[in-house]
Amino acid sequence: MPEIEVVQGDITQENVDAIVTAANESLMGGGGVDGAIHRAAGPRLAQAGAALAPCLPGDAVATPAFDLHPPVRHVIHTVGPIWAGGGDGEAETLASCYRRSLAVADGIGANSVAFPAISTGVYGYPPEQAATIAVTTLRATPTAVERIRLVAFDDATYTLLRTALAAPG
Ligand code: APR
Repeated sequence: MPEIEVVQGDITQENVDAIVTAANESLMGGGGVDGAIHRAAGPRLAQAGAALAPCLPGDAVATPAFDLHPPVRHVIHTVGPIWAGGGDGEAETLASCYRRSLAVADGIGANSVAFPAISTGVYGYPPEQAATIAVTTLRATPTAVERIRLVAFDDATYTLLRTALAAPG
């Protein structure tokens, strides 16, 4: 059972083996956290992503971290659901992002992984529901990962993740 922490900050500054980006299917980068990670990792990240694209919603793939600072060695690209009101399987797709990212982390031997609040920005997922799905799924997924850090970029997300983590489960 991995240790799960909630922190606030910029995920590109995390000192973990792998950082997860909230990507789109092209894996070529975009705005938000994906843009920040691609800027920090440099242009080789988009080249490596393009070679693995498309990545379907709910799936995850790993690339090297290129120009990101050590100890970060990998970027795990996962594509979250675009919120469409909740009747389109969004919850299961979001849960799959966390599950598949841990499976990919196990495959690359990452002991520590940092996650952003997937789908809660451009993709419009209600952040409170997303926080509960993140914590519930991470707690329920068998993994060799020892340390998980949920990185909130803003105060509201930080509070929601802390609340979700404090809930029994
Ligand atoms: N560190 C940590 N979290 C961040 C950072 C950062 N540097 N920048 C943004 N975030 C947060 C946002 O505040 C939000 O809470 O990441 C969360 C996810 O928001 P988005 O980055 O918009 O991701 P998402 O909602 O999954 O939309 C993905 O946006 O950037 C494009 O290419 C991406 O098409 C894809 C879509």
